[in-house]
Amino acid sequence: MATREQFQDRMLSLGLARVSEAAAMASARLIGRGDEKAADQAAVNAMRDQLNLLDIRGTVVIGEGERDEAPMLFIGEEVGSGTGPEVDIALDPLEGTTLTAKDMPNALTVIAMAPRHTLLHAPDVYMDKLAIGPGYPQDVVSLDMAPAERVRALAKARGCTPEDITVCILERPRHEDLIAEVRETGAAIRLITDGDVAGVIHCAEAEKTGIDMYMGSGGAPEGVLAAAALKCMGGQMWGRLLFRNDDERARARKAGIEDLNRIYARDEMVTADVIFAATGVTDGSILHGIRREPGFLETETILMRSKTGSVRRMTYRNPVRQG
Ligand code: FBP
Repeated sequence: MATREQFQDRMLSLGLARVSEAAAMASARLIGRGDEKAADQAAVNAMRDQLNLLDIRGTVVIGEGERDEAPMLFIGEEVGSGTGPEVDIALDPLEGTTLTAKDMPNALTVIAMAPRHTLLHAPDVYMDKLAIGPGYPQDVVSLDMAPAERVRALAKARGCTPEDITVCILERPRHEDLIAEVRETGAAIRLITDGDVAGVIHCAEAEKTGIDMYMGSGGAPEGVLAAAALKCMGGQMWGRLLFRNDDERARARKAGIEDLNRIYARDEMVTADVIFAATGVTDGSILHGIRREPGFLETETILMRSKTGSVRRMTYRNPVRQG
């Protein structure tokens, strides 16, 4: 039988959903108000308060930034009640601050928890990412392949033509060549303006979302969160850290990363069983956003455990007390 000190993923999962819900509800009143910072701060405060109610000895390994630049939920901050299992926490209290401020789709609150020392301590640099959904042979595509080659390999494995493949890519000037190369194969591209955790998750539900593959660079912390989600839902993912200067290389070394060119497969970013929760802030293709009705707020949360592959979608109605 598991002792109290072991990772009680089943027991902790509902608590994790509450943490995610609380962050989303706190940012609700800031949706569409044009203030990214205020929306993020509200989510951070609520997430931290709820996290500290859980019976864990948690360490934030993916958080709001280094201690000197983030006063709360910084990397290395200890969270939880201080009793219970030792766990790593990866979080993004508001994934898509701009999406929230502009009331655009797919803003989420995101948190993952796993036994201590099992989540990659990714520094706040970019990561080149590649993800596909479940059901394909292992390593059917890779980061070492050219983008067009990936499209053709995936189409062959799916038994279709490149024209039937849809790739999700962040719309950024740095992706112009990538977009052109993917388009040349005939594949379709779903461009997103932000939110690549949701972008990657789309691949795990290709029938519903219409997205077969995710490609391109985005935040490395978001890469680890996306790997945690795919480990629960099924699907393959790879990431390689990208460095723009020596300061970024130094950040990686400080986080304990020795091989700066390494390609991390999904299970090298998340090396043990993980639990993952995300709550919709704005409406999206994975989750409904927060609904504000007279007298209550309603949220939708996806809660998943890699040990069982269980995926729950939970609706929570929270009364808003007047006066
Ligand atoms: P924020 O929530 O901090 O605004 O980040 C959103 C996001 O789009 C991530 O999903 C993505 O990984 C990253 O920003 C991409 O960074 P950049 O905007 O520098 O291309």
